[in-house]
Amino acid sequence: MNRKEGKVYVWNWSARIIHWMIALSFTSAFITSFFENRLDSHVALGFIFGMIICYRIIWGFIGPEYAKFKNFKLSLSQLIGYFREKIQNRWRAIPAGHNPASSWFTIWAMGMGTIIVVSGVLLLGIQESRGFLSYLNDDYSQFAPQLARVHQYASYIFAGWVVLHITGVLIEQFWHKTHMVFAMITGYKKTQGEDTRVSRPLTLFSFFVIAISVLTYIFVVSSDYNFLTSKKYANIHYDELNPLYYDKCGECHKTYPPHLLPKESWIKIMGSLENHRGEKITDENISKSQRQSIVKFLVENAAQNSTREVAVKMMATLGKRRPKSITKTPFWREVHKDIPRGVFKSKAVKDKSNCFACHRYAEYGNFDDVNIKQTY
Ligand code: HEC
Ligand code: HEC
Repeated sequence: MNRKEGKVYVWNWSARIIHWMIALSFTSAFITSFFENRLDSHVALGFIFGMIICYRIIWGFIGPEYAKFKNFKLSLSQLIGYFREKIQNRWRAIPAGHNPASSWFTIWAMGMGTIIVVSGVLLLGIQESRGFLSYLNDDYSQFAPQLARVHQYASYIFAGWVVLHITGVLIEQFWHKTHMVFAMITGYKKTQGEDTRVSRPLTLFSFFVIAISVLTYIFVVSSDYNFLTSKKYANIHYDELNPLYYDKCGECHKTYPPHLLPKESWIKIMGSLENHRGEKITDENISKSQRQSIVKFLVENAAQNSTREVAVKMMATLGKRRPKSITKTPFWREVHKDIPRGVFKSKAVKDKSNCFACHRYAEYGNFDDVNIKQTY
């Protein structure tokens, strides 16, 4: 017996919540990915998305009949037949469970979703040196750009298919008039078949996963650097690490972290101190032997010798160039291109070389997105 005549209860409560959680977490993660200082929200949303994807894959094996992968219609002839009928017969009957198009879509979304999540977690570890995989940053930082591309393209493909999926549902709703939009809200489809039956343990399992993923989200956004987003690099105290560098090169401005520029750039800067940004630094200010010691320190800690995100991206985009100024590098220009010129001339900033005005802890070598100050 069905609960409502002429209708089939296909999507139980948890299935609908899960569906909208996938939709919402993906969309919000996609949007937040365009804002550097929203990285923590992006990561938190990614964790929800990841957990729900895992859940949906498990659900495909243990869940109720309509959700089971074994009941999916995945042959090519079924898919072609589905579209042929769709075009020829506006009033055709729809199946209670997944039709061939939505079967393909679900399988494909699980696969692409897995790629997005895995590459995302790896990226957090390898590129951002954060989270439980941050140890991978030591050996694999050179793969960060490729990994970032995989993550990005997979998300774009996913987004494109979401648009197709929505289009398909709207065609069902307004052309075939199958009330498809409401199926994922009310749970009912206008079709023939048995109401879905979900056992109590399965329902409990579903709500457990929903609760855990919401709690994970809250946990990640409400605490900086917890075990899921912990950072590998502590702030560097140059005053302790190299007091000479700190004293001599931290006199007029705070100390610039050596990993921001390649060796050759530092050698050039140190070789032209008599004309350093309009300042004349003489042997009396910094003696020859002190210069040698500072150059050695800068070279040892230069971008080539660092696996930090900033250093890796700096080297990847510099090519053969070795400019004397950080602000003349392609990487610096690229990440700051959206900041209005006037901001750099403002009272609070004064000069674009004044990283410290906008990046809290820049003098400790920390350029994490969460530490960008809103100066405009
Ligand atoms: C006499 C003052 C003075 C001293 C000492 C000094 N600098 Fe500077 N430095 C400046 C000024 C002025 C700028 C321009 C930016 C600013 O106004 O903050 C600058 C900028 C820089 C920049 C940023 C360039 C850019 O735009 O990317 C670097 C790197 C730098 N200094 C390195 C050093 C090093 C290394 C030492 C130690 C050998 C040093 N500075 C010592 C005055 C000084
Ligand atoms: C006017 C403020 C301002 C100044 C000055 C500034 N930055 Fe930034 N920086 C930003 C903002 C804002 C972003 C984020 C841009 C975005 O995502 O659109 C950013 C992004 C970055 C990033 C990328 C962070 C990441 O993880 O992707 C790095 C690295 C960086 N800045 C380094 C520097 C350095 C080095 C200097 C000094 C030579 C500097 N910035 C000067 C505001 C500033």
